[in-house]
Amino acid sequence: MYDLIWNPKGKIPVAMTIAGSDSGGGAGIAADLKTFASLGVHGAVAITAVTAQNTLSVSRVQALTPDIVEAQIVAVAEDIGIDAAKTGMLYSSDIVETVAKTTRRYSFPLVVDPVMTAKSGASLLLREAVNALKEELLPVTTVITPNIREAELLSGHKICTRDDMVEVAKKISELGPKAVVVKGGHLPNIGKAVDVLYHEGDLVFFEAERIHSTTTHGTGCCFSAAITAELAKGASIVDAVKKAKEVVTLAIRFGLSIGKGFGPVNPMAVLYREATRYPVLKSVEKAMVKLKSSRSSEKWAPEVGINIVEALPYAIDLCDVVGVPGRLRATGRGLMEACPPDFGASSHVAKYVLTALAHDARVRAAMNVRFSEDLLKAAEALGFSISYYDRRKEPLKVKTREGMTIPWGMKQAIMRLGRVPDIVYHKGDWGKEPMIVLLGRTALDVVERFLKILQAMNPSKKG
Ligand SMILES: Nc1ncnc2c1ncn2[C@@H]1O[C@H](COP(=O)(O)OP(=O)(O)OP(=O)(O)O)[C@@H](O)[C@H]1O
Ligand SMILES: [Mg+2]
Repeated sequence: MYDLIWNPKGKIPVAMTIAGSDSGGGAGIAADLKTFASLGVHGAVAITAVTAQNTLSVSRVQALTPDIVEAQIVAVAEDIGIDAAKTGMLYSSDIVETVAKTTRRYSFPLVVDPVMTAKSGASLLLREAVNALKEELLPVTTVITPNIREAELLSGHKICTRDDMVEVAKKISELGPKAVVVKGGHLPNIGKAVDVLYHEGDLVFFEAERIHSTTTHGTGCCFSAAITAELAKGASIVDAVKKAKEVVTLAIRFGLSIGKGFGPVNPMAVLYREATRYPVLKSVEKAMVKLKSSRSSEKWAPEVGINIVEALPYAIDLCDVVGVPGRLRATGRGLMEACPPDFGASSHVAKYVLTALAHDARVRAAMNVRFSEDLLKAAEALGFSISYYDRRKEPLKVKTREGMTIPWGMKQAIMRLGRVPDIVYHKGDWGKEPMIVLLGRTALDVVERFLKILQAMNPSKKG
């Protein structure tokens, strides 16, 4: 659930990123500011270096002088105030020492992402700066978030297993930070993406499904920025890391496929999901009104009723799909619903959409109607693409697993056509009613397509 917690002063919390700029907008301050904004925190910036980079490589690095880094931190701290800060690319030992010295003057929590190399392999921290990081910065750190390679370098121990992550987290904590999170993104032999938090003698594991994706540029920045934003709001370290794990997982899943290399993560996904809830709910309401306004629509209701559904743009499961609870039923006086549309109200029709979405992000809505050869013919004549699946051919291992028939069938229909069709049908099975499912971008779009087909079938009738 999206939550804005304002600080006790009743003001928007302020988080600062002390990091480099990535001209591709994928990592560094760009990722940090997006993460801060999406979590409802005002973001301030102290730039340490300018990098010329894209999704493939870093071509140039120009570090700023330590005094300008210091001046940026002081300017913000003395006027606006800083509720929490994070560091990213610090590049040289001079900058590391200056950041340690300057932040020590204030009492805000400091998250250190000990960035050493970019995903493309370029060095973002000179070798000579590692000692300064250990000796000057770690003693004033609240949470440090090394990835596997960084954790190995800081501790001097190799990591191959989850137990190694724990041992290394404990070892790094001896260097002075209050809490250590060893990130397991680069440990693919552990099936899940596991991070280990070691804090005041306690261990907490954070697990998420490992996403097979190339949109992972800026994962570490997004993760540490989300921890910082939550700390700025006053969250505990454990809660801040928990939230950050949710944010980064969503940011990777809905990463931006741009450029030819590792595309940027999408820290705004967490915000967009929430921002689209109301418009999607309203969209289904509007579509329902439109469908009910057509006198002929009632006779297209199958035994099980009609559902109209629309998924959030960043939908993951059935709870992210709006449908009509109890469906629209034929009453003899038109289609009627028992309750207004709501999230999680459809399981069947919503599964068609979730399967379609995984193949084509533009297809987010669907509705089901009674099976009719005539309707299919009219739709085909209008140029709609049609595909089908045969429920009788459903493999036993799919049949015996609850809720798998529709995803299996929809995948069959997509594979048959080579893309997501406008219309999918099946001719039923024992005790299963045959059905037509219309798909489209929005619920209203789907209803309009349906009414257009009815109109073509019976041009003399209006509505
Ligand atoms: N493929 C993935 N699927 C799910 N979560 C992942 C994946 N890769 C990384 N993560 C998670 O993303 C967060 C950042 O971890 P990662 O190890 O990628 O950091 P990093 O190497 O510092 O990133 P960067 O290369 O951006 O600096 C962690 O919570 C990690 O578990
Ligand atoms: Mg990193």
